[in-house]
Amino acid sequence: MNKATMIIGAVVLLAGGYFVGKSGQKPATVIKVDSEPKAAFTSSGAEEVAAATTQGALVRSLVTPTSGELIIVSEGESIQDAVVAASPGAVIKVMPGVYKETVYIDKDNITLSGVIEEGRYPVLEGEGLRNDAVLYSGNGVTVENLYITHYKGNGIMGQAGNNFIIRNNFIVDTGIYGIFPQLGKNGIVSHNIVSGIEDAAIYVGMSDNVDVVFNQVFESVAGIEIENSRHALVEANFVYNNTGGILAFITPGLPIKTCGDVLIRNNFIVDNNHENFAIEGSLVSNIPVGTGVLVMACDDVVVEGNIITGNDSVGITLTDFSLAGNAANDPESEPNPNRPRILNNIMRDNGNDPAPVVRAALAAMLESTGPDIVDTVGMDDGCILNPERYRTIGLGKYTECEFSTTANVASYMLPEPVPGRSMEDLDKGKLAYYGVCAGCHAYSARMIGPPTQIIQALYMDNPQGIADYAANPVKKRPDYPEMPPQSHLDEETRLAAAEYMLRVKEAAAP
Ligand code: HEC
Repeated sequence: MNKATMIIGAVVLLAGGYFVGKSGQKPATVIKVDSEPKAAFTSSGAEEVAAATTQGALVRSLVTPTSGELIIVSEGESIQDAVVAASPGAVIKVMPGVYKETVYIDKDNITLSGVIEEGRYPVLEGEGLRNDAVLYSGNGVTVENLYITHYKGNGIMGQAGNNFIIRNNFIVDTGIYGIFPQLGKNGIVSHNIVSGIEDAAIYVGMSDNVDVVFNQVFESVAGIEIENSRHALVEANFVYNNTGGILAFITPGLPIKTCGDVLIRNNFIVDNNHENFAIEGSLVSNIPVGTGVLVMACDDVVVEGNIITGNDSVGITLTDFSLAGNAANDPESEPNPNRPRILNNIMRDNGNDPAPVVRAALAAMLESTGPDIVDTVGMDDGCILNPERYRTIGLGKYTECEFSTTANVASYMLPEPVPGRSMEDLDKGKLAYYGVCAGCHAYSARMIGPPTQIIQALYMDNPQGIADYAANPVKKRPDYPEMPPQSHLDEETRLAAAEYMLRVKEAAAP
């Protein structure tokens, strides 16, 4: 073993293809080759995951338990009827055909599985009328092999369900969120093809231990969004022609206020230059066209092994809430993107035509083109490998990372299913508010719906008024979309959510 740890190489640059004589020669670039092995990557959630992982193996052991009950739904029948008839553990097979309905799964361990025959899928058709295709609040739910199109709200939304598996679905031209597990722990979103979504194609909200892997996501405002969540692995996704490719951030004013330990690894993040067609005033309407990766206020994000090319504003943006436009600051959420780690990535052709908002923000620092990487805060606890390879702004205080790969973390999913959230949290109202209402209502910031603060001022001590509105919303504000009726919640739950909505404060602890 060669003990010499450093090899110093010198490369003489040939300017313009001709040899430059000694006197006019540019200084040689000296490249340091460090063969000392780097330390292993560690993160705060790695141990519990690693416990189940044999060395180097990719372990995703989650399966939805089945009881042997099989229900077959054919065209002309209702999937919802099958769910109503099913017992926990049932497998519901949906045959190819067109189904015009909303499916609501409030039972545990249900497998909703499309049958694909010679390329024909079961199609959930929203006709531009229905809000949601599939909503689940049960634990241990699998949703797979469906073709979902023309809904106004969500393709597949989880409302506080844990141990979820969402895979192999097509979600096309469907409203606000394509796949949206909200307040879920331990789940996987894989092999889905999602396009034409006004907000986020894949949106992991207020969740923990989720892998988002092998998806294809395009022509949406936000490709993949990890929001107010911890321990998310975003790997091997093909993310192109969105306004912003992959985002990890805090939305201020949500009940769960932290975001951290997000690995963005081995993705193709290409040409995310789609015009921003988000609902005006929504948080994602602030995403600059041409954004590859955006890390806003989320901590301990690692960006490794991605191919990030052709994003016209910036390849990777690290920032605080200053980009979030009208989003109010949340005193409970620390705004800096702490400890960013940028390992080796392939970056090329980014910044060719920065959006006006990026030009304005970077003003004097901007050269004619935007950078590969910008840190608008100028963090002093970040690290990067081989910074000389990229055009960067604001990375002056970054040090060299102490590890070169996160390969020792194969997954952030947990080795065993976790108990259902409803068991551990008996406050029905809080659970419904977190799991359902907070998908669209933040405390002081505008999301899809108006801020909770404004609703509190309107309704003061009239929870019944809120509950009635939620069951049967009428269009009130010209600059907001319609609120979908929350009639899938029973009356008692709606009232409890309304009471909690009036009670919740900015600083509500999770
Ligand atoms: C899919 C997004 C979405 C979800 C989920 C949602 N809302 Fe809304 N909400 C909206 C939108 C959009 C508006 C504004 C509608 C308008 O002004 O026309 C709104 C408005 C409201 C209002 C204001 C009514 C008024 O008189 O001005 C109340 C109250 C309300 N929502 C309660 C709730 C409650 C309670 C829940 C959870 C059980 C909930 N919302 C879930 C989107 C949502």
